[in-house]
Amino acid sequence: MKVSFKLNGKKTNVDVSSDTPLLWVLRDTLGMVGTKFGCGKAQCGACTVHLNGMAVRSCQTQIGAVNGQDVTTIEGLGGNHKVQRAWMALDVPQCGYCQPGQIMQASAYLLTIRNQAMLTLIHGCLETFVVVVLTLESALRLKLQLRCLKKE
Ligand code: FES
Repeated sequence: MKVSFKLNGKKTNVDVSSDTPLLWVLRDTLGMVGTKFGCGKAQCGACTVHLNGMAVRSCQTQIGAVNGQDVTTIEGLGGNHKVQRAWMALDVPQCGYCQPGQIMQASAYLLTIRNQAMLTLIHGCLETFVVVVLTLESALRLKLQLRCLKKE
């Protein structure tokens, strides 16, 4: 099946079986190996990518469902995303294997919060929106710090 979708902002075409997991298309067909295989059962999150801005487990997402959609992988965050900067600033990395999935989940969470805040405040005050987003991002930073402290 020919599948066409946007991958990290670029139009991408593949010709694979429609039930092939997105994870294997990313890794084996397209060479995007930042997305990792862990459990293969949508439980560990190592394979998390964004599908139209929402976090999905690529091991359980068939490529046929991605046709015409927008996929973002860890490579698509570009290395300087605020979650990635926070990860490094707070010294979160350990072995690193599952962290692309964790970062993709966290960045999707921020994106969802921003979109919901924007919808709520679409006719409201931009300053209030910025304060809400900054507060939520600070909360995420604090949560990461607490997690780091628990490990020490
Ligand atoms: S590999 Fe574990 S959730 Fe996909």
